[in-house]
Amino acid sequence: MEVKVKAEKKHVSVKLAIAKTNTPEQLQLQQQVVKILKEGGAESVGIRFAELPEEELAKHRTNTPPEEEDAGLLGPTSKTKFIAVASGKGGVGKSTISVNLAISLARLGKKVGIVDADIYGFSVPDMMGITTRPVVRGKKIIPVERMGVKVISMGFFVEDNAPIIWRGPMLGKMLNSFFNEVEWGELDYLVLDLPPGTGDVALDVHSMLPSCKEVIVTTPHPTAAFVAARAGAMAIKTEHEVIGVIENMSYFESKTTGQKEYVFGKGGGAKLAEELRTEVLGQLPLQQPDWNEDDFAPSVYAEDHRLGRVFTDIAEKIVAKVK
Ligand SMILES: Nc1ncnc2c1ncn2[C@@H]1O[C@H](COP(=O)(O)OP(=O)(O)OP(=O)(O)O)[C@@H](O)[C@H]1O
Ligand SMILES: [Mg+2]
Repeated sequence: MEVKVKAEKKHVSVKLAIAKTNTPEQLQLQQQVVKILKEGGAESVGIRFAELPEEELAKHRTNTPPEEEDAGLLGPTSKTKFIAVASGKGGVGKSTISVNLAISLARLGKKVGIVDADIYGFSVPDMMGITTRPVVRGKKIIPVERMGVKVISMGFFVEDNAPIIWRGPMLGKMLNSFFNEVEWGELDYLVLDLPPGTGDVALDVHSMLPSCKEVIVTTPHPTAAFVAARAGAMAIKTEHEVIGVIENMSYFESKTTGQKEYVFGKGGGAKLAEELRTEVLGQLPLQQPDWNEDDFAPSVYAEDHRLGRVFTDIAEKIVAKVK
């Protein structure tokens, strides 16, 4: 630090060396110095700032490591595998698949979370029959746990199913807080239910989670597969590995005759898998879950349900594939 005083002009010039220049802290410091000098009788004050050399800064650094608190899912030591469920268009069963995939992974003994990244069209809490809301502890949001899965959804933060109007940048912020402000604890897998298509949120997920794996959902119609290919192409462009395709609503099987009817066409899943150079992880027929009024979760298939078994099979394939 250097101070020069020109007594006759009541002018003080100060040169200060600080850790980093052009910061809000510099501005604050500048104002304080001027204020104090003027109170001390200076009529004018001139300040210049310079940056301290690295050796000097090193002397003042404390050697204690940063706090060992939960480094978060996005931290460098995180072992969590991210699995995004995407599709080219809406209504093909992404949310149903995300929810049941997460539950099946939990049934295999894994620690699992699910992020309902469909910020406008959230549906995960209702599908899982969640009636409670997350609580806030300190600065962190504690996710709701249901059927062995930790859940976070925009739906928890909206009153009475009110519509939400988000602007572009807000979406990314919201997603970011789903990862950083939620106390997930240790997770093996975090499943992300993406909104349909290749919009803002899908893009944000791509840039926020560089190592995210993707599962693409399609119906068996060749046109649906064509649209789904766009979601796949986006995943590939952003260097997300597509680990497989799930064909949903593949057929309807009559309970009485056992006959299969291919109501939505045939071959879409295989076609898409070929195009994306990946495999079909499973085909899900059309069938509703059996509703259990005592533990209501309208979109969850029981472990021994025909679809429940397909989901277990898909979960096992994913565990083997995502290392
Ligand atoms: N295999 C299936 N058999 C019967 N119904 C199904 C099946 N898969 C999904 N559904 C039903 O189809 C509808 C759409 O499914 P879902 O909400 O999972 O799709 P989505 O792709 O997440 O839709 P969105 O694009 O609106 O988010 C839901 O009512 C769901 O219960
Ligand atoms: Mg959905």
